[in-house]
Amino acid sequence: MEKLVVTGGRPLQGTVEIGGAKNAAVAIIPATLIADGPCVLENVPTISDVSVLMEIMEDMGAEVHAMSAHSYVIDSRDISSCEIINENARRMRASYYFLGVGLSKFGKASVALPGGCDLGERPIDQHLKAFEALGATAVVKDDVVHVDAGSGLKGAHIFFDIVSVGATINAMLAAVKAEGRTILENVAKEPHIVDVANFLNMMGADIRGAGTDVIKIRGVSRLRGAQYFIIPDQIEAGTFIAAAVATGGKVTVDNITPKHLETIISRMREVGGEISVDEESLTVSRNGVLCATNVRTMPHPGFPTDMVPQFSVLLTMAEGTSVITEGIWSNRFRYAEELRKMGASFSVDGKIATINGVDKLHAATVMSTDLRAGAAMVIAGLCAEGTTEVYGVEYIDRGYEDFVGKLGKLGADIKRVEVPDNAFAAASEV
Ligand code: EPU
Repeated sequence: MEKLVVTGGRPLQGTVEIGGAKNAAVAIIPATLIADGPCVLENVPTISDVSVLMEIMEDMGAEVHAMSAHSYVIDSRDISSCEIINENARRMRASYYFLGVGLSKFGKASVALPGGCDLGERPIDQHLKAFEALGATAVVKDDVVHVDAGSGLKGAHIFFDIVSVGATINAMLAAVKAEGRTILENVAKEPHIVDVANFLNMMGADIRGAGTDVIKIRGVSRLRGAQYFIIPDQIEAGTFIAAAVATGGKVTVDNITPKHLETIISRMREVGGEISVDEESLTVSRNGVLCATNVRTMPHPGFPTDMVPQFSVLLTMAEGTSVITEGIWSNRFRYAEELRKMGASFSVDGKIATINGVDKLHAATVMSTDLRAGAAMVIAGLCAEGTTEVYGVEYIDRGYEDFVGKLGKLGADIKRVEVPDNAFAAASEV
C-alpha cells in the first residue's frame, strides 16, 4: 500500500501534457475484440483500469503488444468466447462492455457484475434493456450477467429511460453487427461516446448521430482491424485546470480538445480562473480571489459529475456560499468528511452540498473515497498549510497517469511513500 505526502503552498507552474481519455479507452479496448483483424490503438493512457483490461484481453487469448508507452497492437483473432467470471471483471466498471462486445462477436457472453467507484447505486438495467430489445436474453445469476442472442441480433428502436454513458456504448457495441437498423434515443453525448463510434466506424461500422440525442446504426456483417488515436481526457485536463486555479499558479494544459472542455472552462472562469484557449492547449492562472458559485451536474454538455470533487476544493476556499447539486450519482459526496478534516465547511444533504468558503485549508490525513475524490484530496493538499497525507492511492492510479510525476514537474511538493496495509487506520486513530 502507498500514500501520497503533499506539502502545500507552492503555486503550480509550467506545462502538463494530457493523456488519452480513460472512459474512451476502457470501451475502445474491449471493442477491438469485434474486429476480424489486429487493431492499433494510440494515445492509450497508462492507468490501472487499462492494465486490468489488457490482462482480461490476454486471459481470453488476445495478443497484446505494446509498441511504445501509449501505443498497442491488439490481436483478438484467437479469442473464441467471452466469459469473464474472475476478480478482474469486478475490479472495474468497464468490464460490462464485454457483454455488448461478446454479443456482437460470438452471440453470447458471461461477465461478472462490474465493480468501479462507489458513487451510489449503479444498476445496469438500461444495458440489459437494450440487449433484450435487440433480441438477446439477459439473466443475472450468482452475480454473473449472461447474455445470449440465440439465433442472432436484430436491429431495434430503443428509447433509454435514463441518459447513460455505459448503456449507450454497450448498445452501440451490441448493435454494430445486428441485422438491419437500430435507433437509439435519449443517448449520452459525452466526447467518449463519439470517440467509440468513430473507432467502430473506422472498423467498418455504420453509426451516425453520435454526439446527438439519437444514434442510428445499420448493422454490417463484419468489422475489420483499424488504427485509432484516442481523444484527450477532458477530466484529467479539468483536474489540472482546477489544481492551477486552486494553487494560484500558471499552467499550460497541453494536448487537449478545447471543445470538450467548454463547460469546465466557463465554470472555472466564474470562480476566478483566467484562461486563454489555443488550438490544442490552454493556459490557466488565477484572477484575484476565488468566488463562490452554484453548480448542477448533468450529462454532457452539462457540468460533468466527474469534476465535482476537484471543483468543490476551489469552492471550499472561495468567498461566499456555494451549492452543488449532483444530478447523476446518489452518493457523490462521500469525500465531504475528508475535506472537513482539512478545515472545509462542507455539509451534505442527499444530492446537495453546501460549501461555505474558509480562508484556508490545513493539512490532515485523508482517504481517497473514489478516483475523482482522490484527485481532489491532492489538490486540497497542494493548497493546505502543512503536510497532508492522502491514502487510497490505488483509486487515483485507476484514472490518472503518473499524477505524482506530472504534479512534481509543475513544482508541487508531492511524493509516493510505501506504508503498511493498516497505516490509514493507525494514522486516523492518532
Ligand atoms: N443508470 C441506471 N441504469 C443503467 C445505467 C445507469 O439507472 O442501466 C443510472 C446510474 O445509476 C446513474 C446514471 O444512470 O445515476 C448515469 O450513469 P452512467 O451509466 O452514465 O454511468 P457509467 O456509464 O456507469 C460513466 C463513467 C463514470 C461517470 C459516468 C457519468 C465510465 C467507465 N464511467 O459511468 O466515470 O461518472 O459515466 O458521466 O465511463 C470516473 O471516470 O471517475 C467515473 C466514475
